Amino acid sequence: MNLKINLKINLKINQKIRNKMKRIQDFKVKNYRWLNDDNYILTLSTNSNIEKIEPGNFAELKVPDSPDVFLRRPISVLDVDYHTKTLDFYIKAIGKGTRKLGSLDIDSDLNIVYPLGNSFKILNNKKVLIVGGGSGIAPFILLASELIKKGCEVTFLIGARTKNDVFLTDEFSKFGNVLVTTEDGSMGEKGLVTRHSVFKGNFDFDFIYTCGPDPMMKAVAQIADEKNVSCEASLENMMACGIGACLCCVTPTVRGNECVCTEGPVFNSKDLKW
Ligand SMILES: Cc1cc2nc3c(=O)[nH]c(=O)nc-3n(C[C@H](O)[C@H](O)[C@H](O)COP(=O)(O)OP(=O)(O)OC[C@H]3O[C@@H](n4cnc5c(N)ncnc54)[C@H](O)[C@@H]3O)c2cc1C
Ligand code: FES
Repeated sequence: MNLKINLKINLKINQKIRNKMKRIQDFKVKNYRWLNDDNYILTLSTNSNIEKIEPGNFAELKVPDSPDVFLRRPISVLDVDYHTKTLDFYIKAIGKGTRKLGSLDIDSDLNIVYPLGNSFKILNNKKVLIVGGGSGIAPFILLASELIKKGCEVTFLIGARTKNDVFLTDEFSKFGNVLVTTEDGSMGEKGLVTRHSVFKGNFDFDFIYTCGPDPMMKAVAQIADEKNVSCEASLENMMACGIGACLCCVTPTVRGNECVCTEGPVFNSKDLKW
């Protein structure tokens, strides 16, 4: 890329980071917990304070020593511990960046920009359903822990292809009932997540949160409409800068095109034109 254009983009990004009080911070790779060959939890630690993270926020992780992975990778914050100064990320290795992030040396440096994006609405004393699929389950630990503090009753509905693709159910069960669907029936009910029996009969949830593949979220949003229940969806559009500078992540909404990285990733499903 032309040096002048590159410099201009970097200046714009630095300005945006300063304006929005985002932080660029070096962490150390503290631990990996592998859930299977392709899915892992990466724990980062720091000696400095950690910025306040809201449920739904994400970080842009720089992929070290990878000249061919130029852009940072957006990953939701799975969990944060302000006392031990650690951040957890649940990562599904699907390409060069996420594979490299899973192969770093313990104690090596990892630079991140965070906290990015908006956050889920936290309700008081409501009965909520949280529907997740794929890497879309990542924001739900922080979300559920905040909802529980506000007196909400939480039910998780996790959809996957097979039982080998179902993760974090032990963690979720600390916060509420966990329902599972698998496409091959190897765990929980058989079929797509939107066919689960929880959507049949007496549906008495006040609110639905969803994150996962777009077709799943669209189907969940449609059910929410039919049941006359509000729904928030967290989008995982492809991103580059993560801070509203490059416009590569826009999604059509009732207000016009909006950057998922700054106006989202969480949207009221009624605002999305998908
Ligand atoms: C706000 C946000 C939060 C996210 N949170 C998480 C998370 O918590 N855990 C996690 O594992 N992943 C998460 N993702 C997705 C993650 O950013 C991508 O999987 C990652 O950037 C892929 O990088 P890569 O270099 O490994 O793959 P690449 O080599 O860049 O791509 C590999 C393949 O994956 C496809 N791909 C790349 N990015 C995406 C994407 N965003 N959605 C769908 N397909 C994609 C590419 O088209 C290609 O086919 C999130 C994405 C966003 C936007
Ligand atoms: S990723 Fe650059 S504007 Fe959203």
